[in-house]
Amino acid sequence: MKKIGIASDHGGFELKEYLRHELANSVDILDYGTKDESSVDYPLVISEACKKVLSGEVEGLIALCGTGIGASIAANRFKGIRAALCHDEFTAEMSRRHNNANVLVLGGRVLGKDLAARIAQKWLTTTFEAGRHERRVGQLDSIS
Ligand code: RB5
Repeated sequence: MKKIGIASDHGGFELKEYLRHELANSVDILDYGTKDESSVDYPLVISEACKKVLSGEVEGLIALCGTGIGASIAANRFKGIRAALCHDEFTAEMSRRHNNANVLVLGGRVLGKDLAARIAQKWLTTTFEAGRHERRVGQLDSIS
């Protein structure tokens, strides 16, 4: 089974908990917090979880905050992290096929639970097309 991390601040906590249970049959999910609805700073939680992707502890991460915006800004500060904020299944699919996104970002205050689960499933099951996209992803990862 694929090993995937999941992390959120308080704004994404409820959806994180839902997805953690919902996806448990399809992937091995490692929960990197937060543990309850008390206020925490998303740059701290999300950056710690991104380090787990970069170290290889997990092969991908689902990151959540209220809008998904702060989490995606934080995640994309890391060289080697390609975080995609997705609001639908199409962008989730393309984020894997073309961008080889290793972090899926979702807005806990934006998405309904059912749609979020479908977006996550699409992201988890879609593979990178490589080819010409390999060069572009390499270019992304060499931006300093
Ligand atoms: C927290 O209130 C909220 O700012 C955070 O979850 C996120 O939406 C930031 O981008």
